[in-house]
Amino acid sequence: MGITKICCIGAGYVGGPTMAIIAQKCPQIQVTVVDLNQDRIAAWNDEDVNNIPIYEPGLSDIVKEARGRNLFFSTDVEKAIDDAQMIFISVNTPTKTYGKGKGMAADLKFIELCARQIAKVAKTDKIVVEKSTLPVRTAEAIKSILDNTGNGVKFQILSNPEFLAEGTAVQDLLNPDRILIGGDTTEEGQKAIQSLVDVYANWVSLDKILTTNVWSSELSKLTANAFLAQRISSINAMSELCEKTGADVNEVARAIGMDSRIGSKFLKASVGFGGSCFQKDILNLVYIAKSYGLTAVADYWEQVIIMNDHQKRRFSDNIVKTLYNTVSGKKITFLGWAFKKDTNDTRESAAIYVADDLISENASIVVYDPKVSRKKVLADLDYLETRSSDVNASSILSFENPYEACAGAHAIAVLTEWDEFITYDWQKIYDSMQKPAFVFDGRNVLNSSDLEKIGFIYKAIGS
Ligand code: NAD
Ligand code: UDX
Repeated sequence: MGITKICCIGAGYVGGPTMAIIAQKCPQIQVTVVDLNQDRIAAWNDEDVNNIPIYEPGLSDIVKEARGRNLFFSTDVEKAIDDAQMIFISVNTPTKTYGKGKGMAADLKFIELCARQIAKVAKTDKIVVEKSTLPVRTAEAIKSILDNTGNGVKFQILSNPEFLAEGTAVQDLLNPDRILIGGDTTEEGQKAIQSLVDVYANWVSLDKILTTNVWSSELSKLTANAFLAQRISSINAMSELCEKTGADVNEVARAIGMDSRIGSKFLKASVGFGGSCFQKDILNLVYIAKSYGLTAVADYWEQVIIMNDHQKRRFSDNIVKTLYNTVSGKKITFLGWAFKKDTNDTRESAAIYVADDLISENASIVVYDPKVSRKKVLADLDYLETRSSDVNASSILSFENPYEACAGAHAIAVLTEWDEFITYDWQKIYDSMQKPAFVFDGRNVLNSSDLEKIGFIYKAIGS
């Protein structure tokens, strides 16, 4: 019998959009997304779908279509677990901030809480699906908790990592490059795999659904993120060399990207990658390698992070150096705060670290981001604990209008590649700024010759 009731624990950037698509594509399945965070659930249930807590192009329409029909958001975690045949765990797995593995290992306390809660509540057999990104062999720990604390019912654990990228989540979910499902090699394990294959087969062709053993699936997710991030650090490393040699990193990226063995994607030099996944997952990979004594493997992957930190620091250093070695009392306007365009997510955004460096040099930072509030900007800075919240608050201003944000600035720094930045009236912006007017384009999105014609001193990454 096919699955008719799904529960997803965690209504975040992965749980919300993923379940919305399953509900849209499988009207025969009732999907309930649960979370401990009452505000988040209230926002998912907001009458006005424009107020759902996650901004992703196309998502609100899908939620509008499915919500109340076969898509539900609730804080009643136990009821949803009890009702469901299949339970996705999609809670956060951040880097540990305490104890052994602090700053490296994934913090699995939320995962363990889910496993204990499922064990406590379940009165019928369940398939438990790891949707969160987890260290390889976590399924073993989940199974041990379920089997040792449960009510004697049977559990199958599957690994089904999510590969969506924020800003394109809906398109990625509708047309995935592949779906990966790892499970036990036993007959029961294979049956569980098949029931999840059947869910995806409602909209994904079978040749794109890969099945593997659990450990391969868990490790493939960390590997994919490590490879993607490595490409960005590689091109960013070349960007610094380009700046010294007269080569242009955009031209180099184009030239190498046409080699079909290399490919053209993920070769965009930038102020550094951000987001909740790349750094966390590579640190986790490094920690796992170290825990097996594989120092060379750990050191190799750690360089991806070291290079990324260098790229962020290099950007803020370059601003200070170019502004005559002092930014004290100067107004620097940030266009963009989100870690990439088309999302309101700011986790690990390069903007946070660049702002932190510049505030330490006594600069005043003004932020305009179409989807990020001042409250969020302040919370991001406070999280670093570099200085008091009051000093952060007095060093940061934020505007809802880009022209007001840029007026009177000594320099503009582009931190996110929002499309709207390209179409601004740059002459008007130039006229309102201090002279000489500088633009530091951390995303290489603006047209250098147009800006230079207006009179800007324009600095890109890697040229
Ligand atoms: P998130 O922080 O946006 O959402 C996680 C949610 O889980 C939160 O709302 C939190 O309140 C809830 N939660 C935590 N513990 C809970 C519990 N015991 N019971 C009920 N709810 C609980 O995180 P996210 O970005 O959706 O990421 C979730 C997982 O997916 C992570 O492992 C991440 O690495 C992985 N992932 C994320 C992305 C991405 O683009 N964000 C992509 C692929 C994979
Ligand atoms: C990433 C993975 O792409 C996705 O498969 C996984 O499921 C979660 O992690 P995400 O972090 O949402 O997705 O966005 P992504 O598009 O990968 O961008 C990550 C960061 O790298 C952003 O800050 C982006 O601006 C930056 N980036 C990306 C570059 O600097 N250059 C590039 O060429 C590509």
